[in-house]
Amino acid sequence: MSGKVVVITGAGSGIGRASALAFGAAGWSVVAAGRTRAKVEAVAAEIATSGGQALALEIDVTRPEDNARMIADSTAHFGGIDVLFCSAGYRPDGGVVESSDADWDMAFTVNVTSVYWAAKHAIPILRTRGGGAILINAGTFGIRPAKGKAAYAASKAAAINLARSIALDYARDSVRCNAICPGYVDTPFNADFPTNGVAAFLDEFQPLPGVIQPADVASLALFLASDAAKMITGQVFVIDGGQQAGIFR
Ligand SMILES: NC(=O)c1ccc[n+]([C@@H]2O[C@H](COP(=O)([O-])OP(=O)(O)OC[C@H]3O[C@@H](n4cnc5c(N)ncnc54)[C@H](O)[C@@H]3O)[C@@H](O)[C@H]2O)c1
Repeated sequence: MSGKVVVITGAGSGIGRASALAFGAAGWSVVAAGRTRAKVEAVAAEIATSGGQALALEIDVTRPEDNARMIADSTAHFGGIDVLFCSAGYRPDGGVVESSDADWDMAFTVNVTSVYWAAKHAIPILRTRGGGAILINAGTFGIRPAKGKAAYAASKAAAINLARSIALDYARDSVRCNAICPGYVDTPFNADFPTNGVAAFLDEFQPLPGVIQPADVASLALFLASDAAKMITGQVFVIDGGQQAGIFR
């Protein structure tokens, strides 16, 4: 896929960062977009040091104008884009009684509406390239929620159906769209997880041994972005070490 261009949000850390590095190593030109300038610049520098092409963009996905600028600047810099990977995410805790309206709104803005804004600007560019792909980093809670994650789970379910809608609406433009649903991944997203609780949680709920690493999810993203997945669209890809397969214990 050498010469293809991918735009990744939430690229400063975790799955977005690992994906930026994986796409860069595979010969893609990478736009690393994220909230913290120093982090996305470090990712772009790492790609460049390895001989790749990268552009760092400081954006807040909750601002519609930043999503528009991200696509415009990426297109201006690299001459177009082929793949958009929306990985930025926000996870407030609480049931509906405990959730604040601000957290509810922020979960939907980051996890759903920002994808809508980014896709709205990206799809016309993908069309000019004869097609492309959009990947949405959703999560298994969007399929089957956990207790105390109402806003997050509801917004991720919406993200999954947004992926399916984009897939249906732009399939005839050869624009594909798929959702990725990770289980527990070893990233700063789970920094609030009690340290001694991770091993016990995985032992109880995740059939496969080991901890899913950001690079594992990046491999799936790279496959779904590539021509090897050219007939795959509107699907939900779970990468959870077998959690969703059924009751393990
Ligand atoms: N880590 C997991 O266990 C897990 C499981 C399922 C789904 N996910 C999803 O994967 C995605 C990536 O999470 P991660 O695990 O890499 O965590 P992470 O915390 O390392 O990365 C999330 C990124 O999103 C960025 N972000 C948040 N709000 C933003 C905003 N307003 N503007 C720009 N960037 C913003 C953060 O700065 C951060 O870089 C998220 O959408 C998350 O919901 C993660």
